[in-house]
Amino acid sequence: MCGIVGYAGKSNAIPFMIEGLKLLEYRGYDSAGIAVIYKAAGAYKAAGAYKAAGAYKAAGAYKAAGAYKAAGTDLNKIKVRKECGKLLHLIEMLNQSPITGTVGIGHTRWATHGKPTQGNAHPHTSTKQDFAVVHNGIIENHRELRKELSEYGVIFCSDTDTEIIPHLIAHYFEQSQNVKIAFMKMLTRLHGSFAIAMISTHTPNTIYATRRGSPLIAGFKNGEILLASDGNPLLKYTEQLLYLEENDILIHEEGKPTILLDENSKEKKLKLVKMEAVDLTTAMEGYDNYTQKEIHEQPSILRRIIQMRLGKDSKDGKDTFDFNFEELDIPKDFFNSIDRIYITACGTAYHAGFIGKYYFEEFMDLPVEVILSSEFRYAKPKLNEKNLVIAVSQSGETADTLASIAEAKRHGSKVLSLVNVLNSSIDRESDVVVYTHAGPEIGVASTKAFTSQVMTLLLLAMYVAKCRGEFKRKNDKELLQEIFALPEKLEQVLHTEKQISDCALKYHLATSALYLGRHLNFPIALEGALKNKEISYMHAEGYAAGEMKHGPIALIDKSLPVICICTKSGIYEKMMSNVKEVEAREGIIIAIATEGDEYVKTIAREVLFVPPTAEELSPILNVVALQLLAYYFAHFKGNEIDKPRNLAKSVTVE
Ligand code: BG6
Repeated sequence: MCGIVGYAGKSNAIPFMIEGLKLLEYRGYDSAGIAVIYKAAGAYKAAGAYKAAGAYKAAGAYKAAGAYKAAGTDLNKIKVRKECGKLLHLIEMLNQSPITGTVGIGHTRWATHGKPTQGNAHPHTSTKQDFAVVHNGIIENHRELRKELSEYGVIFCSDTDTEIIPHLIAHYFEQSQNVKIAFMKMLTRLHGSFAIAMISTHTPNTIYATRRGSPLIAGFKNGEILLASDGNPLLKYTEQLLYLEENDILIHEEGKPTILLDENSKEKKLKLVKMEAVDLTTAMEGYDNYTQKEIHEQPSILRRIIQMRLGKDSKDGKDTFDFNFEELDIPKDFFNSIDRIYITACGTAYHAGFIGKYYFEEFMDLPVEVILSSEFRYAKPKLNEKNLVIAVSQSGETADTLASIAEAKRHGSKVLSLVNVLNSSIDRESDVVVYTHAGPEIGVASTKAFTSQVMTLLLLAMYVAKCRGEFKRKNDKELLQEIFALPEKLEQVLHTEKQISDCALKYHLATSALYLGRHLNFPIALEGALKNKEISYMHAEGYAAGEMKHGPIALIDKSLPVICICTKSGIYEKMMSNVKEVEAREGIIIAIATEGDEYVKTIAREVLFVPPTAEELSPILNVVALQLLAYYFAHFKGNEIDKPRNLAKSVTVE
């Protein structure tokens, strides 16, 4: 999954593209590149605005443009600069050999086809360098097209699926001598998902763009057009956004009205959406990185969600649950008409969905199935119009989850999604949406979005049970009190950060670890292990504690850390017998336990205590201790925590 940007206007495209790619780097950081159409030097006089945009401050760059005058021969030529690794490397390259132009495209890569090398970095160009393309997605029939183009004599310079696009356009341009026709003909040959931006020396003032499956948004300002994979790079410059729909083709020639065509080449009206800027450049407020900051934001985010969904707090003598899910504009009796719930998601969101299953099944008599989105379509769940499919996604752009939503809708099922990013594809594709209000999450390993998803799923399950008139939970007043007390208890867990970091220091060089939990905390064992894998690269496995004796117990020896989630609950005794089984094989027991639990101290090598709380809420306290443990494992390894290797914040390819 990659990030793409594009610009056509009167100003220098470079500063906007670099700033835009910075805000899209969470989507992939294997390589980065830009391409512009070289223009006569004078064009930049009007460029004042963008000069201010930091990254490209090396004023020399503009003076270098002077040299540009000499290079008459380069006029209207495509100039490419691309480098592997983080965006910083590209910026350094641009400072050494600057290029400028008023029409350009840019890219930050998450490798799907072809290693993260400079050769495989985007933009990719045609043989005569008359077309340049950036792409986000996967061209599934690239092998067949590559073979066909090779037979026409095309020499490929990269191992990517993307490179077939500029060669295909060039092939059809030879036939039609018309860029628009060539671009549209190329599209008829592609299978797969894509967002594409293209520039050409044959139409040096024009930018072309299209999407199918992968998101692409255009922003408009004073006759200029800005393109990006999500709204953030655009919202710094304009509030007027156009979300391209499936198979839309956008053609913008500088100084002329933008043309938007549908898949039948019929012209469409531009439906602009006014969007508020989300300040993504939030400061790290003294934290070492965004991940640490986002872990520490969780108490205030949960406090906000609880107040939003349940009203003020217990102090105003609140002893009954009345919920606020106003965004759910569906008749309350809708929930009576459903006979089965499916929950689908990926990664950390899947673990939140897994806990959601327990909540829904605890509060009402409805069967709930949780299915990984990447398996959903192929698992052929027996979907029908009486089913509710709940999709959970932080970014709202994850392709597998989007495909599950399409599958559910194909069978007439209702889709309710939990998303964190407003106006994301999942937000726009779902029947109803519940926002998780975690704020922008920048760290690639999801932390605050997870606890906000779990909290929202708990309150949503209770709300649905109430709507169905079957909210059954003994002593719900106790649960209500514990919910209001949760943010404070979470602060107490964060206050044990030093103790958790001391524990991590002892075991951060372990090559693998086992995480065990039962019932609501089985998904937390999965999530704890995932956090460890994502940021500290330790081979960690989460397992249902009761299942351990049927296999993974063979892994246990004196060198294996076994993180056991054994906070007080109805299955505490069962969990402790599993901990005893680990003790018997001399595993290094690191226990997450409830304050005051003296027994666990007699068994475990390390005990990380969390305050007592209601069983339903224990996953939220326990996971934060595990987030910190993984964080410090990675910290002591000196890993880059916000942008772990090989990962991306959300993956828009299947
Ligand atoms: C992965 C992210 O790419 O996608 C994970 O690295 C995330 O943190 C997963 O949990 C699912 O993403 P989303 O946005 O659908 O919740």
